[in-house]
Amino acid sequence: MASMATSSLEANASISAERIRFSQDELERRLIQLERLAAVGELSSTTTHEFNNLLMTIINYAKLGMRNKDESSRDKAFARILDAANRGAKITSTVLGLARTGAGHMEPIDLVSLVEDTLVLLERELTKYRIDVEREFQPVPHIQGSASQLQRLLLNLVTNARQAIGERGTIRIRISQEKGAVAMAIRDNGCGIPKENLPKLFQPFFTTKSGPDASGKGGTGLGLSACKEIIDEHRGRIRVDSTVGKGTEFIIRFPAPLKSETVSESQ
Ligand SMILES: Nc1ncnc2c1ncn2[C@@H]1O[C@H](COP(=O)(O)OP(=O)(O)OP(=O)(O)O)[C@@H](O)[C@H]1O
Ligand SMILES: [Mg+2]
Repeated sequence: MASMATSSLEANASISAERIRFSQDELERRLIQLERLAAVGELSSTTTHEFNNLLMTIINYAKLGMRNKDESSRDKAFARILDAANRGAKITSTVLGLARTGAGHMEPIDLVSLVEDTLVLLERELTKYRIDVEREFQPVPHIQGSASQLQRLLLNLVTNARQAIGERGTIRIRISQEKGAVAMAIRDNGCGIPKENLPKLFQPFFTTKSGPDASGKGGTGLGLSACKEIIDEHRGRIRVDSTVGKGTEFIIRFPAPLKSETVSESQ
């Protein structure tokens, strides 16, 4: 009798443990989803400002085209209007992609243009904190990846770099081809990471920030754990080099496409 009671207690306990585990997974999933939406929300002031600039360009060149009837002025006006509209379309598709949940579909990605498109979203913020971005881009083959996930990865890394710098500094983004890999490195000359924190960096909720900064970003400790997940989904690797007081470099290596893939992509 006693043993029956014990075993039913054990069964109940294991069911409860299972439920707790389930709700914990579910909570973590929802939290990550919320974090993703919050990051998109944070971009809204940047995108609104950028859109305003683009609309000004479109309005001014439309006026110029209407005033000047000669063909060359009109061609120039149309070209400027088209450029501004294309840039606007790129921004909306980037933000919409970021808001979408799920892994996103895998397709051949030109890392250099993906980085450029993502930097547009951060331009205003980086200027505000007087941070220069140095680009060192080598031509690299397309990698197989999810554009929205890779953009999220870059947004997290560049935001961390910006926060580590505070004000005035340099972020260098390098894209290069290595043997069997395409590498992307983000280096900052910010505060650096103490050795004892390095093993904890990619753990969910590890943060040294007391909360969101003046731009409303940072402090949950989910950024790098999300980055790690994205890199795993891309069969990539990440490593960190950091010196306190000097700066940090995150280097990500994606598997280079097979020769046959490169050929078919460039066609
Ligand atoms: N480039 C960097 N320079 C210095 N420290 C860094 C850098 N990147 C990450 N860190 C450290 O790693 C911690 C974890 O980073 P992570 O991006 O996961 O979380 P967070 O930035 O604190 O919050 P959020 O979830 O908003 O990104 C940071 O709190 C910071 O201490
Ligand atoms: Mg972060």
